[in-house]
Amino acid sequence: MNKKQFLDLGKQPIANGFLHKEEINNEFFFNLKVGFDEETKLVTQMEYVDPPLMFNENYAYRGSMSETMRTHFRKLSHQLQIENGHRNPNLEILEIGSNDGVFIKNWSPKNVVAVEPCKNFADETRALGYTTYNKFWTTILTETIKKQHGKRDIIFAANCICHIPDLDDTFTAVASLLKEDGVFIFEDPSLAGMINNNSYDQIYDEHPHIFSVIALDNILQRNGLQICRVENLLVHGGSNRIFAKKLGSEIDETVEQNKVYERILGLDNFETFVRFAKKVRQSREDLIRILVRCKNEGKRVISYGATSKSTTIFNYCEIGPDLIEYITDTTPNKQGKLSPGMHISIIPPNGGIDDSIDCVYLGAWNFIEEISKKEKDFVDRGGKFITHVPIVKFI
Ligand code: TMP
Repeated sequence: MNKKQFLDLGKQPIANGFLHKEEINNEFFFNLKVGFDEETKLVTQMEYVDPPLMFNENYAYRGSMSETMRTHFRKLSHQLQIENGHRNPNLEILEIGSNDGVFIKNWSPKNVVAVEPCKNFADETRALGYTTYNKFWTTILTETIKKQHGKRDIIFAANCICHIPDLDDTFTAVASLLKEDGVFIFEDPSLAGMINNNSYDQIYDEHPHIFSVIALDNILQRNGLQICRVENLLVHGGSNRIFAKKLGSEIDETVEQNKVYERILGLDNFETFVRFAKKVRQSREDLIRILVRCKNEGKRVISYGATSKSTTIFNYCEIGPDLIEYITDTTPNKQGKLSPGMHISIIPPNGGIDDSIDCVYLGAWNFIEEISKKEKDFVDRGGKFITHVPIVKFI
């Protein structure tokens, strides 16, 4: 790689490392610096955090916590199960990073092999009857899987491939386990979405890369695969669902359409990211200003959703309990803990936003529709949401 740095997001903790007060002294921090690889056009961190520090038995993020994501994976599964107008119940699936089973629960356990490095979730899907390897995805692991279960029709991964530092090994492993006409389907936040939304909070330890279609195709192709289709999704603030097959497969028009759009945005050009970094610094100043103003006016401000994204924001902007009183989150194993790095308390929502709260920073801005519906009372009584996407403002 020939990486050139364009952004420094400072000292950051493990984004999903929610912790108890007694653990503060042992908290791990690293320098979050982001660069552009001139060779493949990949946006990637300058140095990667060792994966077992993030993906272990304490991993907190649960895919099935939001209705949006449960519906999203249900719909996709139904779409894949219908072939030429008929239901195909025999497709052999493998999921990389199966988390709490939010995708595979839509499939029969007899056709699924799951791979999940976080033991808490691997145990959970095993208990539901799914064969689950509690391992990181590597070429070595695929040799075992191939012997025991054979090659697969579909290899799926959602919000997982961008977590893996070594993409060449990842894609080689996929190519070796895919049937000749098999398809590798994966979705991750898109670089176009991040640039358009100025959502620099997509960058944290678990996201060593933010993908463009251009960069992905470059890396897939040198590992025996190529992109055949791209679907643009709204989830996670703008994601791409990539359909890749073995080299020489048919390619549809969405691939070139996405590449053309990305070239217009300048995603293959280092200077675009230098401009992006300038906007990120401006966003930090604006967010601090708005929160300080609320505090000076005596307003009560909390945050909604203890997201990994908000770990980047709070640590980069140095926003702590003096500016955000607490964070609400529906995930049981985040509740009662402190946010990583800035140590803001996380509490359960208990049926909605407390009546005395004036402003709510949207840590989970990507679920704005679901949240506005759920918190209609807050909105009706004149409560204001604060977001930094695409610019810092009250909603
Ligand atoms: P994500 O943005 O990384 O998917 O994380 C979303 C977090 O926000 C997750 O911890 C669950 C939480 N959340 C709530 O607390 N309330 C909600 O209404 C929604 C949609 C999410």
